[in-house]
Amino acid sequence: MSLSTQLSEYISAAFTGLWIQSHEHDDALTEIAKLCRDNKWRLAVWDIASGLQIPGQNAPADASSDPLAAIRSINALASADSSAILVLTNFHRFLNSPEIVQALAKQISTGKQNRTFIVVLSAVVQIPTELEKHFVVLDHDLPARDQLEQIARGVATEDGDLPQGDDMNMVLDAAAGLTRYEAEGAYSLSIVRHGNIRPDAIWELKSQTLKKSGLLQLHRGGERFDGLGGLQSLKSFTLRAMRRQGHRDPLRRPRGVLLLGVPGTGKSAFAKALGAETGRPTLILDIGSLMGSLVGSTEQNIRQALKIVDAMAPCVCFLDEVEKALSGVNSSGDSGVSARLFGTFLTWLNDHDSDVFTICTCNDISKLPPEFSRAERFDGVFFLDLPEREQKQKIWDIYLKLFDLEANQARPKDDQWTGAEIRACCRLAALLDLPLTAAAQNVVPVAVTAAESVERLRSWASGRCLSADQPGIYSYGTGLQSKPGRKLRRADPSNN
Ligand SMILES: Nc1ncnc2c1ncn2[C@@H]1O[C@H](COP(=O)(O)OP(=O)(O)OP(=O)(O)O)[C@@H](O)[C@H]1O
Ligand SMILES: [Mg+2]
Repeated sequence: MSLSTQLSEYISAAFTGLWIQSHEHDDALTEIAKLCRDNKWRLAVWDIASGLQIPGQNAPADASSDPLAAIRSINALASADSSAILVLTNFHRFLNSPEIVQALAKQISTGKQNRTFIVVLSAVVQIPTELEKHFVVLDHDLPARDQLEQIARGVATEDGDLPQGDDMNMVLDAAAGLTRYEAEGAYSLSIVRHGNIRPDAIWELKSQTLKKSGLLQLHRGGERFDGLGGLQSLKSFTLRAMRRQGHRDPLRRPRGVLLLGVPGTGKSAFAKALGAETGRPTLILDIGSLMGSLVGSTEQNIRQALKIVDAMAPCVCFLDEVEKALSGVNSSGDSGVSARLFGTFLTWLNDHDSDVFTICTCNDISKLPPEFSRAERFDGVFFLDLPEREQKQKIWDIYLKLFDLEANQARPKDDQWTGAEIRACCRLAALLDLPLTAAAQNVVPVAVTAAESVERLRSWASGRCLSADQPGIYSYGTGLQSKPGRKLRRADPSNN
């Protein structure tokens, strides 16, 4: 919903304290000013550098930099037949003073009688507890496609600057998620560098912008499904879900998958290949780094990151090793920050109606809060077990070829190996110029070093997760409990 629509609704409903979170104050102010003109509302804008200004008047109405005077000034704008709006720019900076907090609370209450509205315009939402009930927070959305196109048309000055047809669509795909200011910069830079607006130049700039946020990274690797042996069921499930028509209907839109599995079985590799396979950009959301020292701004950051993810739809959003970031949710050691972060993420996962396919990986589901994996949160929870013989064969083929090794040489005993170990063995054989059997001496399989946790993981997944290899539910057969659905080959010393 556009900022002016939201504002107009809240002002009509007499919400007299409004907090607009925006990174682009000029744009937000232009929208607010237009709304006020259309409705014949009075408008004043205050910031510390310019004092109080009435749009349309050249001289400031009051050049004072006193924030208290600014708050009080709104009553002078009030009139019986219209509403008056005072925009306080970057006012979060002043909210550590008790006088200002009190004056704001009082003014917001008075506003209900004389239809005066306080609008705080700020890039962050930092509302003191005393004022929390007085403000509603509105988001200034990132520009939509048509706005990005308008900006491109504004920047292009010569024939040939603007791409045509499909190329224009690619440019708009690339620019999605940028602010107006960033998009303008990206287009201009592309014209300076290449003589026209090109998608690759925008992508490049966008990767940098995302990196700056510290949370999101654009994955630009060229991995594909054919570089992964096996995982047939997972591959076809995700492809079917994402290639279906009718994604415009939010009810039918795919949500994503949770991948649980033994370390080194290709969870991260799969997630990275999915975007390229379905022609969507992949955004890596690093929630682990959120939990760093900047605890206070964590929730803020994730909200911002999720907004960018939404704006980049259709895309793939990849969260690697979620349990590491979310494992503190039940503990009180971090004063509830993880829990709030987790809540924000879960709410988004449930409610977002953008076409974002979320893929989360996890090695230890017992560390995740149970509500994370409940049905309907994801389209499927898949378990990636140690590869079976046939799958191993495919993985050997992939890496023997990749590392340019002799295909017919003797293979080491690989019963307990994961894909990562097969890859490591081939890499070492190539690096040290050794036969595979000799290189294998340096490979210690995780199923042996961490036998207990692997065993626990398999038992947990049995009956609860879908198998990544075969259609249906994963079943880890141990003796009598063996269920149909997966033929299990246990370690067999003679099987080589
Ligand atoms: N089925 C497979 N086919 C081809 N390569 C594989 C397969 N499984 C794993 N690999 C390779 O092993 C390496 C490690 O895989 P990856 O990082 O995806 O494992 P993971 O399941 O994410 O492990 P972890 O849980 O430790 O993060 C990658 O280089 C990947 O390509
Ligand atoms: Mg991984």
